[in-house]
Amino acid sequence: MGNCLIAIDRRIVVKANFMTNRQTSSKSAPGADQIQSAKGTLGVMIPGMGAVASTFVAGVEAIRRRLAQPIGSLTQMGTIRLGKRTERRSPKIKDFVPLADLNDLVFMGWDIFTDDLYTAACKAGVLDRALLDQIKPFLQSVKPRKAVFDRNYVRKLDGPNVKTGKNKMELAELVRADIREFKKSSGASRFIMIWCGSTEIFLRPTAAHASVKAFEKGLEQSDENIAPSMIYAYAALSEGVPFANGAPNLTVDIPAMLELSRRNEAAICGKDFKTGQTLVKTILAPGFKARMLGLSGWYSTNILGNRDGEVLDDPDSFKTKQNSKLGVLEHILQPQMYPDLYGKICHKVHINYYPPRGDNKEGWDNIDIFGWLGYPMQIKVDFLCRDSILAAPIVLDLVLFLDLAQRSADLRGIGIQEWLSFYFKSPMTASGLYPEHDLFIQSMKLKNTLRHLKGETLITHLGLEYYD
Ligand SMILES: NC(=O)c1ccc[n+]([C@@H]2O[C@H](COP(=O)([O-])OP(=O)(O)OC[C@H]3O[C@@H](n4cnc5c(N)ncnc54)[C@H](O)[C@@H]3O)[C@@H](O)[C@H]2O)c1
Repeated sequence: MGNCLIAIDRRIVVKANFMTNRQTSSKSAPGADQIQSAKGTLGVMIPGMGAVASTFVAGVEAIRRRLAQPIGSLTQMGTIRLGKRTERRSPKIKDFVPLADLNDLVFMGWDIFTDDLYTAACKAGVLDRALLDQIKPFLQSVKPRKAVFDRNYVRKLDGPNVKTGKNKMELAELVRADIREFKKSSGASRFIMIWCGSTEIFLRPTAAHASVKAFEKGLEQSDENIAPSMIYAYAALSEGVPFANGAPNLTVDIPAMLELSRRNEAAICGKDFKTGQTLVKTILAPGFKARMLGLSGWYSTNILGNRDGEVLDDPDSFKTKQNSKLGVLEHILQPQMYPDLYGKICHKVHINYYPPRGDNKEGWDNIDIFGWLGYPMQIKVDFLCRDSILAAPIVLDLVLFLDLAQRSADLRGIGIQEWLSFYFKSPMTASGLYPEHDLFIQSMKLKNTLRHLKGETLITHLGLEYYD
């Protein structure tokens, strides 16, 4: 795994000049990056105020009031080892890099329904009513703005709180006006947009996505290849606001958005929060590969009863999700390099909409592996998970890390923040690079990026110096 990481990092050096000399040596220049301080308020803008968004915002408020703990959040609970093991330096990540304080977060959002965040959280049914009632006035104060929405892209939903305009460019202008208004009224000095809206139908990159110029022409002509999520992203990046994509939608994974992101120095990342079954898959699969155990099949199925499950009941939205979920095994196991172990994997993923379970998904995995001399074995996983409980800390970390990237001279101009792959099922990468799905490589990459930003020695886990 160590070799693999180094090989991948070398490619990044070739592709992106921003890391050049510092990355090739294991020691970064001291104080390498100029990171602006996190003083002031951070405005968080959320298209899609459903289960994930309400669980995230309610959770932040509950933590601020010391009613609960930020379990699952690396930025709040994680530590980072610095230097040699003998130095015993392992500060909390939030004490190592300047992250926004939770008390400095303010929120706004858009939805096709008019429910404020208290009502949305009650309907989502993720958090206990007793907790929500303690923070009710705060949640009620976050009311959705009118959404950019089109049923052609999310067939299972319809709602009244929707903007109208003569073409898609006019809708983008309306979102930009919302952003500018929030910039004025919130008193915040920095901003992030994170898509927590529904999964849209499967779209492929087309000519309309090829450049900012083509995209803007497409907006004027209301090109059908431009989905609502892209309109929010275009508006955010045009206003210099970084954008994270929590759904598997194409959204910012197109050349036009990368161009806009780099031009306006507004970072981007995505796609699809890595929670539940895929999280488990990217924990287990690297283990099998590390021990050279073979895999002949992986059958995954889920039951899910929330609104997300209902949206995914439409085959075209499910196709977007399925593509995102299927990619992980191939990239982790590299069947082309290990044909005897992973050359003939049967990988199936199903999601079944089953209302009685609400947000409490159940995911089953049947994993057929084989060992010494080809003898078969089976592993069964039954994960009774809570989708939005797993997603909310990811939203928090992405908001805080994306804001950090925006204040870092090294990171804000590069576009895609691949170091945040840790949080995504389908990580975005520079063109020509395969995505890194192995959770442990992703974690190393994230932490080494933080060390790099602060001019600390990157950790290779070589450790020979202890035996000199
Ligand atoms: N919960 C998880 O574990 C998880 C994991 C990975 C990805 N996701 C993705 O995160 C997204 C949110 O999940 P959720 O469980 O909160 O779903 P949800 O259905 O509860 O919330 C999505 C909200 O987005 C709104 N919406 C849809 N289109 C919109 C638009 N164009 N503009 C504004 N609002 C819009 C819907 O009305 C809804 O309120 C989904 O795309 C889901 O696939 C969730």
